[in-house]
Amino acid sequence: MRMILVGPPGAGKGTQAAALKEKLGVPHISSGDMLREAIEEGTALGKEAAGFMSRGDLVPDETVIGLVCERLLKADCARGFLLDGFPRTRRQAEALDVALEAKGLKIDAVLMIDVPENLLIDRMTGRRLDPKTGRIYHMSFTPPPQDIVPRLVHRPDDTVDAAQVRLGKYRRDTQPIIPYYEEKGLLRRVSGVGEPPAITRAIFAVLEL
Ligand code: AP5
Repeated sequence: MRMILVGPPGAGKGTQAAALKEKLGVPHISSGDMLREAIEEGTALGKEAAGFMSRGDLVPDETVIGLVCERLLKADCARGFLLDGFPRTRRQAEALDVALEAKGLKIDAVLMIDVPENLLIDRMTGRRLDPKTGRIYHMSFTPPPQDIVPRLVHRPDDTVDAAQVRLGKYRRDTQPIIPYYEEKGLLRRVSGVGEPPAITRAIFAVLEL
């Protein structure tokens, strides 16, 4: 299956992607994770992206389109993929369609995780990432075991100020891709409010997995 996860920042896309990836047996391709890796490695791409990301701005379309479309050509994507954080603009959505069509492929489903805006800032500011396992925690909602707390990472864009910029970008640039996929009959919606395992079950149900 070739699918896309969409939803506002902090909606739980990364959290749910971990369960979906297991279920579908396809790679989880997160544009945000790829960009953070490039920053960590100090590549030219990482240097370009770092400023945009820490402010909460989007990285330019051309840069992200090249990065993700190249990744989709790798052998592990032959049986499908789970895209998270891409596409995020109408231009990225159209570029993805062109890249897939060139290989005779298409998107099978787009899953929208809906969470009211008033819950999102707390989710982002309380988030911590485990660099060792890749697991996503929240200091209040899904607290980590005490012994791993010292190694957890707080994302530089998980401040209140950057989170507000990200929400604004989501409203302006990303929400317009929802009707794009709705018109194609690909959009499925789930509520992202509740315990993560219950949301996973709702996702499997809506996707008939
Ligand atoms: P990216 O990494 O894609 O971030 P995002 O889309 O803003 O999404 P998040 O990672 O913030 O949230 P999420 O929905 O994955 O939530 P999570 O599961 O972690 O992008 C970061 C930046 O990179 C962008 O701002 C931009 O600069 C750049 N970028 C990336 N892609 C780009 C693109 N295509 N074009 C241009 N620029 C791009 O959950 C959040 C928290 O909530 C966690 O603490 C979690 O434990 C908790 N949580 C999860 N589910 C629940 C629940 N059900 N109840 C309570 N808490 C929960």
